[in-house]
Amino acid sequence: MNVLAIETSCDDTGVAIYDGDRARLLSNQLYSQIELHNRYGGVVPELASRDHLRKAMPLVYKALDEAAISIHEINGIGYTAGPGLMSALFVAGSIARSLAMALNIPVLGINHLEGHLLAVMLEDNKPDFPFLSLLVSGGHTLLVHVKAIGQYQILGQSLDDAAGEAFDKTAKLLGLPYPGGAHLAKLAQQGDPKRFNFPRPMTDRPGLDFSFSGLKTHAINTLSKTDADARSKADIARAFEDAVVATLFIKCRRALVQTGLKRLVITGGVGANMALRQCLKTQLDADVYYPRQQFCTDNAAMIAYAAYQRLCRGESDDLTIRALPRWSLESLRSPLN
Ligand code: KG4
Ligand code: ZN
Repeated sequence: MNVLAIETSCDDTGVAIYDGDRARLLSNQLYSQIELHNRYGGVVPELASRDHLRKAMPLVYKALDEAAISIHEINGIGYTAGPGLMSALFVAGSIARSLAMALNIPVLGINHLEGHLLAVMLEDNKPDFPFLSLLVSGGHTLLVHVKAIGQYQILGQSLDDAAGEAFDKTAKLLGLPYPGGAHLAKLAQQGDPKRFNFPRPMTDRPGLDFSFSGLKTHAINTLSKTDADARSKADIARAFEDAVVATLFIKCRRALVQTGLKRLVITGGVGANMALRQCLKTQLDADVYYPRQQFCTDNAAMIAYAAYQRLCRGESDDLTIRALPRWSLESLRSPLN
């Protein structure tokens, strides 16, 4: 079964084709809108949806070209139906629904977070179920007990800024371009880990929830007490990254003890952070897995994988175009049930 997937939930237009029966990704196309939103310092939803509209169909043709198949060899379509920006979600939804109707094939709206949770399954080195997943992206910070496909229990989440959001806001404060996570991580490599010591929020009390907005305020206050020179900025970047990594480490260790799980998957955009991967890999009593960098950040390959798992078990949508800005992972069901 060849599944075409379209992802337009935020600022990346993604199109992928996945041959599920042979577990082969035939094409993975991505167009990033970073340039478009850079000058505004964040994503402008109206600009995002218009650009998705311009880019999505050309990427579908490009994906078919790369996969060397005709559109008539597509047997099912998946699209990100949420969570995400309403107007942006509608782009993938309407294209997917229209193509499915024209080709008379099934279509299914996929939860973006389920895509992130399952992205690691595209790798040769993938975990067995169940596992603990640390999903850290621009919009979410979640600790999830992944019992099987569609069976997700949220153990902890951010009460304010997501980890990626905190990276981006702190990066902006340090004068780095949007989105700043990777830029901040690069700057942190030159920073002195001993000069500043940032707090590890919510680690001194029980529980698995997170709060990262205080770290950004801490960064503002620290910067205001320095000359705001290049060295100070690098030292602040280092202290900030160390604090986020240490906080995520403490919560992952706690969640592993609480659940008795021995496998951890790090995923989502911040999951591409090398300091985080290194810390969790070397210091936790668990086998640690992660998708390659391009499957950590937003992409359509993970949506194609999730869609295949559900479509091949007979799941599909009716004529509705689904666009759900908020869509809880825990409301999903296993396709096997
Ligand atoms: O998963 P993703 O592509 O989009 C969402 O679904 O949110 O994640 C994007 C986030 C951004 O906040 C970006 O700054 C962050 O991931 N990010 C990083 C790194 N690479 C991307 N944060 C820290 N270190 C990185 N190397
Ligand atoms: Zn994402």
